[in-house]
Amino acid sequence: MAKLYERVLDIAVQRGFLLPSAEIYGSMAGIYDYGPIGAPIKRKIQNLFREIFITCPGFLEIESSTIVPKEALVASGHAASFSDPLVECKKTKKQYRADHLLQEATGKSWEGKSVEELQKRLKEHKITSPDGGELGEIKAFNLMFGASMGATNEKNAYLRPETAQGIFLDFKRIFLQNGSKLPLAIGQVGRSYRNEISPRQGLVRMREFSQMELEYFFNPKKDEMPGFEKIQKKEVRVRLPGEKNAIEVSLEDAIKNKYFANQIMATLIYWQHQLYLRVGIPAKKFHFAILPKDGLPHYSQANVDLEMITSYGVIEGSGTAYRTDFDLKNHAKHSNTDLSVKLPEEEEKIIPHVIEPSLGVDRLFYCLLESAYKEKSPEKEWEWFDFPPAVAPYLAGVFPLMKKDGLDKLAGEIVQTLREGGVECYYSQSGSIGKRYARADEIGVPYCITIDYDSKEKKDVTIRYRNDGGQERISISSLADKIIEDAKKGKVSLKC
Ligand code: GAP
Repeated sequence: MAKLYERVLDIAVQRGFLLPSAEIYGSMAGIYDYGPIGAPIKRKIQNLFREIFITCPGFLEIESSTIVPKEALVASGHAASFSDPLVECKKTKKQYRADHLLQEATGKSWEGKSVEELQKRLKEHKITSPDGGELGEIKAFNLMFGASMGATNEKNAYLRPETAQGIFLDFKRIFLQNGSKLPLAIGQVGRSYRNEISPRQGLVRMREFSQMELEYFFNPKKDEMPGFEKIQKKEVRVRLPGEKNAIEVSLEDAIKNKYFANQIMATLIYWQHQLYLRVGIPAKKFHFAILPKDGLPHYSQANVDLEMITSYGVIEGSGTAYRTDFDLKNHAKHSNTDLSVKLPEEEEKIIPHVIEPSLGVDRLFYCLLESAYKEKSPEKEWEWFDFPPAVAPYLAGVFPLMKKDGLDKLAGEIVQTLREGGVECYYSQSGSIGKRYARADEIGVPYCITIDYDSKEKKDVTIRYRNDGGQERISISSLADKIIEDAKKGKVSLKC
């Protein structure tokens, strides 16, 4: 029997959610295209991030270049430290990540450990390659894709390994253009690139992927978050270092117990909790893991990772890092530019501190597919997706019973009316109505609208609800409002 992730990925490719990139040339490992069904879902996830993270006053969005000059990534520490431990099998010459081989053998994570430590442990656990071959020495393999800008062979730039650096490079100008005050939050949604040693697990470890990041710049002497008192009693699930299970903790207790650095970090974590719930990931399927000090990225003073529980095992969905003044300080030094700021409340200029939530879009997209996937049942003899309306590829499918006698024309007019009323819909006139309903379920469309002979006279249609297959008649004039109203409540069943 296929594992859940194999089945879900298989369906995702069959039904147009994902496409293997450059397939006619044999595809590229670690790179996927989003197909006509997947692309709108991805866009909706990204827009929910924008709605939750970027619409508050003082929160701004930018779109910086994906090519970054080499000096900037030397300054940020990526050129020296952004590497994975590469080890080669002496027999097959195949390459592996040493920390992954250790994880497979010991069942615990070795991510972020030094090359020396990993080398020692490989020996201690007598680990060979998966083909049984002896392993060579571990080398630190830099994950960035180098680029040559202009008519030169010199690698003088890199494809960005995170969207964050563009925000740091643009910070000073945006600060000056926006009232020269803190806090200031700058977000970005876009592609990042990492030359992963062994891309695997579909969307989990890719070489080109999308991130949703926010850099929250603040005066370190003022780390309160406006409005925190309204959410301080809210609870999130937290996993402490060394523990297996997560516990529920209120945001205020998480700060008191030093799990979260301050109110800003707690709020940004709570927003991720909300985003995941709105995308449709059940609360028990994710939690926030507090990283031990020896597992922190090179730029971070404290880190909390969102972990998702999937059929692959536990996967990191996001990281929230207290980056302090690390990036601005280093860019100031290497570029010889003053990136300190003058604040009305301070006598001296300061370098702002930063807390950054960094969320992977593709991993969240995968987690949604897995959470929403439904097997065949006596009620539905096909596999389908229970997407919340907020992230479904379309809200509705519009189907004339017959493609003649004016039913097709009326259906076309209804498509137009629905689109004008804000309902994203698609039109289909081929196959039996039953087949069209099944196809809509298969891509997770919440509502189906059928136009029949009565519709011409009575000016009404049948609306079918995806989850329980319930149907009712509804007037064409109230259709768009009804769907929008229903979708806002997350309703896709007559019964709920
Ligand atoms: N700016 C900080 C940063 O980039 P990260 O933990 O390296 O931090 C953030 O990445 C998120 O980006 C991860 O939690 C994950 O969801 C996503 N991500 C990172 N590498 C990825 C890859 N190779 N494939 C897919 N998603 C990835």
